[in-house]
Amino acid sequence: MSTELKKALYNISALVDLGQAITAEDAFQEKIQSALYVITGTFLANKGAILFYDKSTGRLNTLIQKGFDRAELDRVKPQDLISLGKNEPCLIGYDPVPAVAGAEILTPLWVRDEFIGVLLLSGKLNAGSYTLEELELISVIANQIAIVLNNHTLFTDLSDKLEENRRLYEEMRHIYHGTLQAFAAAIDAKDAYTQNHSHRVAKYSAAIARELGWNEHDIEGIYVAGYLHDVGKLAISNDLLNKATPFTPAEYEEIRKHSTLSHNITSKIKFPWKNVHDMVWHHHERLDGRGYPEALAEDSLSDGVRILTLADSFDAMTSQRPYRKRMDVQSAISELKKCLQSQFDNKIMLVFCRVLEKEITGELPEPDILPHLDSDSDLSIISSMLEAIIQELSAP
Ligand SMILES: [Fe+2]
Ligand SMILES: [Fe+2]
Repeated sequence: MSTELKKALYNISALVDLGQAITAEDAFQEKIQSALYVITGTFLANKGAILFYDKSTGRLNTLIQKGFDRAELDRVKPQDLISLGKNEPCLIGYDPVPAVAGAEILTPLWVRDEFIGVLLLSGKLNAGSYTLEELELISVIANQIAIVLNNHTLFTDLSDKLEENRRLYEEMRHIYHGTLQAFAAAIDAKDAYTQNHSHRVAKYSAAIARELGWNEHDIEGIYVAGYLHDVGKLAISNDLLNKATPFTPAEYEEIRKHSTLSHNITSKIKFPWKNVHDMVWHHHERLDGRGYPEALAEDSLSDGVRILTLADSFDAMTSQRPYRKRMDVQSAISELKKCLQSQFDNKIMLVFCRVLEKEITGELPEPDILPHLDSDSDLSIISSMLEAIIQELSAP
């Protein structure tokens, strides 16, 4: 193998390696610099530069250079290079090749019909001329550099787009959460007794879903459903919602409309999370099919619905209502347990008990349920109660 060919292979493999390594901007700059040093070293040129064409400004920017006067490089204009051959080395001083002080070879870099930049090399240190083989080799290298620069641009554009999408998504989430809080505040303002109910149901549901192993996106979905599940109450009269005596059958019928109203309101929103509509609509369904509004049973109830149902009922029981005092935590847990299979799901109950137990023992350092419970609760009694239920429900 001739020395020339060895040089060519060395150069090309170095540049192919460069093409594979264009991930981070720092690494790219470093690689492109070493590529220029390899090229100038191969041809014994004391000066070399790679200029990069910026489409947005229509200007050539110096990406890397060695030995040139920077002001001289700034004088190279893209329009002066258009008539020159693609990736063809041109000898400076021959019309129409523009003059650049200190440069002897100018090679416009192209990928297909896309102008990418310029490679400039000075004369040789030994004052010899470039041979025909060397010019051919420069052409091959120019092709490689053009591809690498083009790939880097595509990569950077893609990264910018991804960043933009991420920013837009964050913005959208921000708007969603703001809207949710506005809705929840509107419900609270209307129904003083259920203050923060939506917020707590959202928190409890998300905590159960997390313990169940849901991914962050789906957890956010059930959190949103928790916030919105009772939004239909906005369409129910204040007097009825705040009535201090038990509801008559007709009034109860009216109240029951709220889950469908919640669904009607939220169905206009195209959520980025799955099943929000289903969870909102069916948060008063029961496993035995005696719930409302559709009397769905067992297989028709998703895990999300089962979680929301339990979280909603637990908070309803442990909160003060106009027509009754709040239940203590132990009684509410007993009530949930009593209604397993008919109303609530065993698996969800087990997970709920596990979360609460972990919050009490400190295994979950950022509790979602515990801070909202009656501060007079005897946690050791609740803990042993939870342990017993966990044991019972975990048994095969
Ligand atoms: Fe409800
Ligand atoms: Fe509710």
